[in-house]
Amino acid sequence: MTKGNSPRRMKIKISPSILAANFSCLLKDIIKVEKAGADFLHIDVMDGNFVPNITIGQPVIKALRGKCKLPFDVHLMINDPDRYIEDFKNAGSSILTVHVEVCKHLNKTIQHIKNCGMKAGVALNPATPLYLIEDILSEVDIVLIMTVNPGFGGQKFIHNCLNKIKTLRSKIVKNHLNVDIEVDGGINAQTSLEVIKAGANILVAGVAIFHEKDIVKAIQNIRHSI
Ligand code: DX5
Ligand code: ZN
Repeated sequence: MTKGNSPRRMKIKISPSILAANFSCLLKDIIKVEKAGADFLHIDVMDGNFVPNITIGQPVIKALRGKCKLPFDVHLMINDPDRYIEDFKNAGSSILTVHVEVCKHLNKTIQHIKNCGMKAGVALNPATPLYLIEDILSEVDIVLIMTVNPGFGGQKFIHNCLNKIKTLRSKIVKNHLNVDIEVDGGINAQTSLEVIKAGANILVAGVAIFHEKDIVKAIQNIRHSI
C-alpha cells in the first residue's frame, strides 16, 4: 500500500476467519479458501478470560503452517499477550494483533512483535475510543476495528463503528502513514461495501464465507460487492 493512499485505490484484502470453519475438517476448509483467492487466513485465539469463549492456540497454528501458504493473520483475544509473542512467531504467524484493552505497555508490545519479524496489529473493541492508539499509530502496521463485541462469530455488524473507521482513515491519510485498517465482525457482501467506503482495506469474514455452500462464490460475492 502506498503511504496515505485513499482507500478506494488500495487493494482490498480478504482474511477468512476459521472460527466459522468446520473444525472436524479444518484443513479441507482452509485449502478451499486458499484456492478461492483469499489473501490471509484469520485465526482467532481466545482465552475464555478477555472474551467469553475459548478457541485454539499455538499448537494448532503450528500444525497448519506447513499445509497452507496463506499468511496467518492471528488475532489474540487474550489477557497478557506479551507472554506468548515468541510462541506465536514460532508457530508461523505473519501478523500478530493484540487488543489495546489488555496491554499495559502497548508500545513495548508492538516493538516486541515487530522485533520478532511479524507485522504488528492493534485491535479496538466497539466501545474503545480511537484516541487510545493515537500516539502509537505511526508504529503499527494494522489497526483492527472490531465491528462486533469479540468472542463469537455470526454476530450482527455494529453500524456505529463506521465513524471510527472514517476518523481513523482520515488520520492515516493526513499523517501520510502506512497503516492498514482491518475490520472484523458481521462482514458480508453488504457490510463490506460500507466499511470500504468508510476506509477499511482488510476484511475479515467468517460466517459469510465458511457457512456458504460454495466458498469460492462467497469470496467472489464479497469481492464483487466492492
Ligand atoms: C469475533 C472474531 C471474528 C469472527 C468474525 O470475536 O474476532 O474474527 O470470527 O466472524 P463473523 O464474520 O462470522 O462475524
Ligand atoms: Zn477476529
